[in-house]
Amino acid sequence: MVDLKTTFVRALTGLGPAAAEPALRPLRGTALTPALLALTIASGWSSRFRRDPCLPAAKADALYEIWIRRSLAGEIADQVFAWCDNGSDQPLGFVTIALREDMGSIGLIAVAPAARGRGIGASLVDAALRHASAKGAQRLEVVTQGANQEACRLYQRCGFTLAQRSRVFHVWADLEAAATSP
Ligand SMILES: CC(C)(COP(=O)(O)OP(=O)(O)OC[C@H]1O[C@@H](n2cnc3c(N)ncnc32)[C@H](O)[C@@H]1OP(=O)(O)O)[C@@H](O)C(=O)NCCC(=O)NCCS
Repeated sequence: MVDLKTTFVRALTGLGPAAAEPALRPLRGTALTPALLALTIASGWSSRFRRDPCLPAAKADALYEIWIRRSLAGEIADQVFAWCDNGSDQPLGFVTIALREDMGSIGLIAVAPAARGRGIGASLVDAALRHASAKGAQRLEVVTQGANQEACRLYQRCGFTLAQRSRVFHVWADLEAAATSP
């Protein structure tokens, strides 16, 4: 078992008026930077790809790099927001948002370790909620891991409720042995 897949959902009602947030930068269409790649890889620390001892870490990192590149290109995300402190271009956090019919979803989200506990995570979730709502979605969902308590707490604090929990198993077939066995 590699994951207790945990899905949270929130209806996009009662959001109230958005305060202008100069720290938020839309990144769709921009090039991937080393800082954003580092945040992306941090976002997957408790994913099933990282927890599976049969999967080399470099392969898991490569998967996340493809995920953020395709998100920035608008292929698998509608928008990517970065959080940059005043006067800085260095992203301290980011979130990707995808849209499918009336459902929005957070794909990737992370805040740099030194910047955690300042409310940046909650602000990024709020940006995702408002973006999805502005694009006509009725609900926003996010999938995380049961082991990721910080993320579960964040989503619940932001008004999400638990929608589903399921165990995920990876089964590795020994193809070489199977090919040589009589
Ligand atoms: C999950 C994650 C994005 C949260 O980001 P964050 O910026 O630390 O989130 P917040 O600051 O909004 O909230 C974190 C805590 O700080 C507290 N906090 C928020 N603003 C605060 C402030 N101004 N002063 C003191 N504490 C504050 C919150 O109440 C919260 O406490 P809790 O965890 O005990 O409930 C971050 O931990 C992270 O990047 N983790 C690694 C990547 C990851 O797991 N991503 C999720 C994949 S699904």
